[in-house]
Order: sequence, then structure tokens, then C-alpha cells
Amino acid sequence: MRSFALASALATLAAFALATPTLTDLEQPHKRASLPTVTASGNAFWQDKTRFYIRGIDYQPGGSSAMKDPLADSTTCLRDIAEFKKLGVNTIRVYITDNSANHDTCMNALADAGIYAIIDANNPLFSINRYDPVPSYNAMYLQSVFATVDEFIQYDNLLAFFSGNEVINDNVTSTLSARYVKATTRDMRQYIANRGYRKVPVGYSAADVSQNRMQMAQYMNCGTDDERSDFFAFNDYSWCNTNFQVSGWDQKVKNFTGYGLPIFLSEYGCTTNGRDFGEVAALMNSEMTGVYSGGLMYEYALEDNGFGIVKISSSGVQEQGDFAKFAKALSANPAPTGDGGFTSTTKSQPCPTKDANWLVDSTLLPEIPSGAKAFMNSGAGKGPGLTGDGSQNAGPASISDASPGSGAATATPTHSKNAAGITTVGAVDKAPLILTALVFVLTLSGTLLL
Ligand SMILES: *[C@@H]1O[C@H](CO)[C@@H](O)[C@H](O)[C@H]1NC(C)=O
Ligand SMILES: *[C@@H]1O[C@H](CO)[C@@H](O)[C@H](O)[C@H]1NC(C)=O
Repeated sequence: MRSFALASALATLAAFALATPTLTDLEQPHKRASLPTVTASGNAFWQDKTRFYIRGIDYQPGGSSAMKDPLADSTTCLRDIAEFKKLGVNTIRVYITDNSANHDTCMNALADAGIYAIIDANNPLFSINRYDPVPSYNAMYLQSVFATVDEFIQYDNLLAFFSGNEVINDNVTSTLSARYVKATTRDMRQYIANRGYRKVPVGYSAADVSQNRMQMAQYMNCGTDDERSDFFAFNDYSWCNTNFQVSGWDQKVKNFTGYGLPIFLSEYGCTTNGRDFGEVAALMNSEMTGVYSGGLMYEYALEDNGFGIVKISSSGVQEQGDFAKFAKALSANPAPTGDGGFTSTTKSQPCPTKDANWLVDSTLLPEIPSGAKAFMNSGAGKGPGLTGDGSQNAGPASISDASPGSGAATATPTHSKNAAGITTVGAVDKAPLILTALVFVLTLSGTLLL
């Protein structure tokens, strides 16, 4: 989330070197879903066989300090989903969720509205400490992360998980925590595979920091396959009501060309010069679609930082001026048809080397905490929710390195509950869902005719 001033130092990285491409298989969509599951293949996302672009908004009323799960409160989520429908977004990102709460009402209402969710698997209590990562990477932490996976992966409109949010910032010391963020990503991917869940993409959401963005991206896509993310996302506030060239987005397309994984903006929406959201036109244009898969505008609810587009009070929701502007930008710039010039192969990057902006000097990742290994076979159990002291200081004092490849799937799932994308929606609920799916299809064709 946007809470600190952004440095604008020059990035100094060379363009990405080429690595061997890997052809990826398109995962079969889950036919029983009210919305088709979105999958990652090549450097893009897919909804059935159609290229999927994130046309989304970040959603966390109250910000991180409120520590409140907006998807656990049906009164407020239903109120806000009505606004999402007016905007025409197809995705929301939620930063803080309660893995001990039930999310059926809000997640199913989102699905009925044709909206996917990207869920941060961390929260302020259970996360990697950027300046003291070792004691924060522990079994208690991973239990919470995995419980969040268990809770949300049962919903077909769960699009992706973030394994970390802005852990690395503009203080170079924080780059030393990147190994633990990457280990968390590895562990989440292994957990999803071992538990027999559908292959929901897992990746990191990087802060808007120009001096380490390219290294961060390379790092999350280097090493053995088990260590690499499924996508990369970063926050970007450089388009301040200007254009593709002045914002420098043309250079960011150039620099990320050939990255080898799907990329999207997890936050955008600079407020410096007012906002007409020209970012949407650029993101949906062929000048970007070969490399980027859309983005999420920051943000829905108005907080002290001034980015929100609705004011929420006890009397309800009041749309601010930017609300209509964002809705207009979305409707004027529908997702392009065709494949957008995507690349059908994925490939890895070379790991970045240590320099003045990047202090990581090893390609080895920390070993998964021994106490967390059991979760791979037996599941994480009940989530701790958003109470208590959290895991950041739970220890250990030191961690050994893992051998590359140790995060590969190690178990064949023996359970069947919630596995492989089987929806938990009961038989009585199916008819309305089929109806809404039809309405959704009609809505979609309606949009295409505009
Ligand atoms: C792109 O990469 C070049 C050199 O590789 C670097 O100088 C430049 O700062 C990068 N630009 C952006 C916007 O990241
Ligand atoms: C970076 O963080 C470290 C650890 O908290 C702190 O000691 C240092 O002063 C910070 N550096 C800057 C430039 O803020």
C-alpha cells in the first residue's frame, strides 16, 4: 500500500538476458464454475481460451491500520460490489483478510458480478519483517499463509495470491529480506501442489522503487522452477496524467519485454496532476499488451492519502469525482480482442548480482521451517485470523540454506475435499449461479457491442 514517499533514483540494470524458453500448457478451465477460473500460461492470463486482462481496483476500506477483512462483512461488501459493477471492474485486490472467517457471501457475490479477487496471503501480524527477516520466517507465519490459501482457493473467482506486498522498499537494507519473500512464494506454490488444489498463480507485489525494481523482478523469476513465481506485479505511480512517453511507461515495456512471465500493475493511479486515468487506454493498447496484463487502480475507499474514489461514512458510499472518470476510462477502453501479442513460452531470468542497490549475494533460499513441513501433507488447519501477537518475532534465530529444487511438489494428495477446484457451492445454490453466469455472458456481449 502507498504509505511512503517514492524515491526516483535511476535504475541501473541492463536489459534482461535471454534464457531457455519453456512451452507451457494451458490448464483446462473448471467447467462447473460460475465464472471460469483464470489461469496463467506463457506471459499472460486466460479465461477459458480468451486472454484475460486485469481491469481492477484495490480494495481495503480503512487501510492497513484498520486491520479489517472487507470480504468477511457481507453488509459492506455487498454495498461496495454494487459500486464495482457501476465501475465495470473485473478484479479486486484485497490486502488484509481473516483466514478464520467465512467468505462465502462476499466471494459468491463477487462471482455473480463477474469479478475475480487477488488476495494478499500476508497481513501486518503475519508477514516477513523487512529489517529482521530471519525470526519472521517461521512455522507460525506459514501456518497463517497456508490457512489463507485454504480459505480462498475454494472459490473459482480467486484469481491469484500475492506472497508479499512491498516488503522490499527504498531502503537498501530491506533487499536482504527478498530471500524470505521468495522462500514464502516457493512454499505457497509447493503447498498448493501438494494439497492438490488448482494451480492458482502466486507472485509478489513490489513497491514503486526504481532503484531495485528490475533486480526484484529478475530475482523472483530466477533459479530452479520451484523457486520461480508464476507472475510478477509492481506498483507504479509514474503516470501522472501525462502519456506513455512522459511517464516512462514506454521504457518499462522495453525493459520488461522478454521477462518470461505474466506482469501486471498491482497499483497505479498517481494523483499529482489530477486523474483522467489515461493509464487504462495504455494498458489495453497493443503497445503494452504483449508484456502487461492490465492492472489495479489504487484505490476504492478514500483514506487520508487521498487516492480513493468513494467516501465511506455511516450513511453509505459517496462517489467522488474520480469515480466517474475511472468508470469512463474502463468503458472507453475495453479489453482488446485477440491474443494481444503475448508470448506462449515462459522462461527464467539470471539471478541479479550484488551491487549498491541490491545486497543479496546468494542464489540459495532459506530452508522451509521444519515445523511447517507437516502442513504440506496434513494441511494448515484453522487459521489464526487477525488477532494475537502475530508471527514476526516468533523465531528462529538462524536458518540454514535449502538446496535448489527442494520446493518441488513432494506429495500426492490423498484428500478430496476442496481439491482441484471443486466448488463448495451446494446443490441448492447452483441454479441461481447458472442464471447469473448467463446474465454475465449477456452483460459481456453487451459490453462488446458498445
Ligand atoms: C530500463 O533499463 C535501463 C537500462 O537497462 C535503465 O537505465 C532504465 O532506468 C530503465 N528504465 C526504467 C523505467 O525502469
Ligand atoms: C534503513 O533501515 C535500517 C534498518 O532499520 C536503518 O538503520 C537505516 O537508518 C535505514 N536507512 C535509511 C537511509 O533510512
